[in-house]
Amino acid sequence: MSSPTVYLNGDYLPLSEARISVLDRGFLFGDGVYEVIPAYNGKLFQLSAHLQRLDNSLENIRLHPPHTHRQWQEILTTLLDDTPAQYLYLQVTRGIAEKRDHAFPQPVRPTVFAMATPIGSTLELQRGVKAITLDDSRWRLCHVKAITLLANILLRQQAVDEDCAEAILVIDDQVTEGAASNVFAVLDGTLTTPPNSNRILPGITRDVILQLARENRLPVVEAAISLKQLRTASEIWLTSSTREILPVVHLDGSVVGNGAPGPVWQSMNGLFQEYKQRVST
Ligand SMILES: Cc1ncc(COP(=O)(O)O)c(C=O)c1O
Repeated sequence: MSSPTVYLNGDYLPLSEARISVLDRGFLFGDGVYEVIPAYNGKLFQLSAHLQRLDNSLENIRLHPPHTHRQWQEILTTLLDDTPAQYLYLQVTRGIAEKRDHAFPQPVRPTVFAMATPIGSTLELQRGVKAITLDDSRWRLCHVKAITLLANILLRQQAVDEDCAEAILVIDDQVTEGAASNVFAVLDGTLTTPPNSNRILPGITRDVILQLARENRLPVVEAAISLKQLRTASEIWLTSSTREILPVVHLDGSVVGNGAPGPVWQSMNGLFQEYKQRVST
């Protein structure tokens, strides 16, 4: 199979030929930010929301946007092939510094990388997945989509080691989000998700769900969820650009609801698939 084409610092080239320096600050410090943008039938889903979040992440780490939204759109569109569902990964780091030093190099020439990857099967969507709760050991800038993901990967791996699809993170008895997803719970019939703050990533899928729930008059609130409330929820979902709305049917070894994706998930997943279809054709 030939190597897929990727974008690196102005060039389109085969992945096997894409190279960066070991002095890149992304490699040395995890000094960069990223985005993951789904594309269905060749159309980028919620592109402007993703690019706005990218600009916010860049501003938070004091890095100038290397491209305008129009330029990003052109780069990302060039990378799409005819796979029906794929996601675009893009990463911007603070580039190469001649000397390894924590302080920013002067001048900064960011490293910009992007690639497309097919999105796998959605089988787990239909069946639901297992999750565990873990102490949220991450930093206080979780609203920045930083490439510095060591805590997230350790937490996700702990979940995988326990035969679970995701770790749901908890601080001071309050649910924050998943290691790589946002969390929704159905509490007394109301769809509930923690409010945006520096403790969670403002998920683009989360926003679409909130919008669809409000437009369709489903009871929905952005409010704190305690661990106890999570454990008594009739439904729990994990949401992200690559996994969409994933029902959790087992939490910490106990069945959630009746152990199958619940009725509120059925309604919301229907609305979500319909919305996707509408904006992708
Ligand atoms: C920590 C974290 N929270 C939430 C999300 C969901 O965000 P989005 O819906 O924009 O993919 C992700 C996505 O990867 C994530 O890594």
